[in-house]
Amino acid sequence: MAAHLLAWGLLAATTVTGQQYDSGTRDADAFSYVQPRNTTILGPYGHSPAVYPSPNATGSGGWETALVQAQDFVAQLSLDEKADMVTGQFGPCVGNIVAIPRLNFSGLCLQDGPLSIRVADYASVFPAGVTVASTWDRQVLYERGFAMGQEFKAKGAHVALSPVAGPLGRSAYSGRNWEGFAADPYLTGVAMEHTIQGHQDAGVQATAKHFIGNEQETQRNPTFNSSGTVTDIIQEAVSSNIDDRTIHEIYLWPFANAARAKVASFMCSYQRLNGSYACENSKALNGLLKEELGFQGYVMSDWGGTHSGVASIESGLDMDMPGGLGSYGTNVKAGSFFGGNVTRAVTNGTLDESRLDDMIVRIMTPYYWLNQDQDFPSVDPSSADINTFSPRSSWLREFNLTGERSRDVRGDHGPIIRRHAAEATILLKNKHNALPLKAPKTIAVFGNDAGEVVTGPLNQDVFEYGTLAAGGGSGTGRFTYLVSPLSAISARAQQTGTKLVQNWLNNTQIVSSNVSDLLAIPTPPEACLVFLKTWAEEAADREHLNVDFNGAEVVESVAAFCNNTIVVTHSSGINELPFANHPNVTAILAAHYPGQESGNSIVDVLYGDVNPSGHLPYTIARNGSDYNAPPTTAVSTTGRYDWQSWFTERLEIDYRYFDAHNIPVLYEFGFGLSYTTFNLSNIAIEPLVDSIPSAPESLPIQPGGNPALWEPLYNVSVSVTNSGPVQGAAVPQLYVTFPDSTPSGTPPRQLRGFDKVLLDKGESRTVSFELMRRDLSYWDIVSQEWRIPEGEFVVRVGFSSRDLREVVRVTPVSS
Ligand code: BGC
Repeated sequence: MAAHLLAWGLLAATTVTGQQYDSGTRDADAFSYVQPRNTTILGPYGHSPAVYPSPNATGSGGWETALVQAQDFVAQLSLDEKADMVTGQFGPCVGNIVAIPRLNFSGLCLQDGPLSIRVADYASVFPAGVTVASTWDRQVLYERGFAMGQEFKAKGAHVALSPVAGPLGRSAYSGRNWEGFAADPYLTGVAMEHTIQGHQDAGVQATAKHFIGNEQETQRNPTFNSSGTVTDIIQEAVSSNIDDRTIHEIYLWPFANAARAKVASFMCSYQRLNGSYACENSKALNGLLKEELGFQGYVMSDWGGTHSGVASIESGLDMDMPGGLGSYGTNVKAGSFFGGNVTRAVTNGTLDESRLDDMIVRIMTPYYWLNQDQDFPSVDPSSADINTFSPRSSWLREFNLTGERSRDVRGDHGPIIRRHAAEATILLKNKHNALPLKAPKTIAVFGNDAGEVVTGPLNQDVFEYGTLAAGGGSGTGRFTYLVSPLSAISARAQQTGTKLVQNWLNNTQIVSSNVSDLLAIPTPPEACLVFLKTWAEEAADREHLNVDFNGAEVVESVAAFCNNTIVVTHSSGINELPFANHPNVTAILAAHYPGQESGNSIVDVLYGDVNPSGHLPYTIARNGSDYNAPPTTAVSTTGRYDWQSWFTERLEIDYRYFDAHNIPVLYEFGFGLSYTTFNLSNIAIEPLVDSIPSAPESLPIQPGGNPALWEPLYNVSVSVTNSGPVQGAAVPQLYVTFPDSTPSGTPPRQLRGFDKVLLDKGESRTVSFELMRRDLSYWDIVSQEWRIPEGEFVVRVGFSSRDLREVVRVTPVSS
């Protein structure tokens, strides 16, 4: 957490003297380079074209009435009040906009994060993003988003700093991949959409973060010298250098779903993008987000991600977080680029007041649209006590904290969390049907992930003993309880009459001993359950892909004695699994970070109360060294702008890379077993429109972009049958191969549809997938349009990216 604090603690005040545009060189073609350039040519900034002015909100897409209310509100504000509306203040929540009592505006409370309202007591900890993405279930994604939204609202938080589409998962090592969903833009896009709808249907504003290119933690912020002022930057944050096509087809894609779902806000990310900070990158904020995607809400900075005043404002930034005017605690150098500087910039004519008005209209439109002006709960005062980021001593302004304290907002969410995490559990291996357990007479439990956390606060750090149910940093949660696997297994064993022979939770001891000596019993238990964990946190990338605490050696040691070794991983995501083909390792379950009901969820799967139906949202390679696109972990030169991360793999992240290079993998993207089996048959494709031109009709932009891109062009149907012994849920997945005429670099197969269907034994159902124009288009860097290429598409449906069973071909555009 220390690094997290540091991330925004080093803000510095500066006066705004004039416009500082993105680039000295205004290279119009810059967004389309792919090859690294010499940094002397690159210059301090310079490869992100300037896009000005920042577009005004119109309320299009259903916010028209709310926009008028927001405009009325803005019309009543003084200039100082306007500056307050766009500038965070230290206060009870992670982010705060102060109240204006004379207008009955009680301020805005912004709270983390993507799996829980973190700065709160008596709140639930839900499964992490990567976990819930593994369900491939739209209903689950929505239910979770809605339940989370209810808790944020009941605690008085207007804005949830959730969900995450950046990082997307370019690199296996990124410390925050688990906060987001999947290493695939399509699945992440669907997850964004349903989570946002859930949050906002519960009355809370959602925040799509971190926009954009935030694919590593290392050097996500500048390095300052010890005095910590903005002028004392030693090296700027890393620059994610991404070409135009890749931005559109990979990293922007899920954010387009977010804009289409009418997300209230976007959070711009810490790092630089093509040379200029993401929070002052006019191409990204004005160009991609507000023009191309027609985003109608507001852009807030990540905490301390603002690096200029007017330059950021003109580039599209609408709210500075966490802000602060003048000083933060005793560090008088820290402060805000906004606040009083905004007032000054308007007064001296540097900043046109109409831009400031648009910023506030954008902030207040979703507020009115979600009826947050009517009976919204007050901020729970207990949040203020727990908020270590801005303790009371740092507050410069007044906050009304007279509401009910320590509200229990958990409702009936425990059973929902239990069900969601069970449905997210991925069965990777199940030799001889080792699972589900069939009332074994004896069980032994191994591994430091099995038991209660006994050495420190839950999930605030990587503690040796205790189960892991969430990662670390701003995206974690404060557990009010956590059901450990060991306690849930013990309870279940009592019910089924199973003897829990022994538990060995000290990994060092297991690895350094002979397990038959440890157990000192003549024959192995009927099942040996091994629980492994892998920690990841904000502000640090992972250093390796092993399971932590010698987990692989623990499995080897147990499996040397026990011929029915069942492994469960609680992990942030990608791990090397060197024991996967060990003959005595009969089953492997990837449970990721399940949230507070962890033990109950895994017991439900182990005993077959829930038939596993999770599927991998990324690829597990045979060797860690098989992954491409590592983070940039160091630079050998000391120049201020030398941290560069070149996304030269372009579209080839995760399975797109493994497939393009025919690299064998251990478990491919989309893979997951069940206690039953499924078949597919009768694929068919049917056009939904008469003719399909290559370019979309140019329709007025709506949230999500040109509506023509979202128009369904084909319906693909396929019959799914449960051919096995028990009820279970199948996840049919549709992958598209583009025609040869598509520009080079197009991945061999890309996910463009999926469904989840529960089937009784022997039951068949037809599922259908709508292919939209966007699904069949590539981003043409020349015309700056999405285009459907000429020639034949191959559409395949299967149960993973490498288990494709049905195929159909179609030629939308012929030459
Ligand atoms: C993180 C954000 C988070 C914010 C507030 C930042 O360091 O990157 O995701 O919402 O802090 O805690």
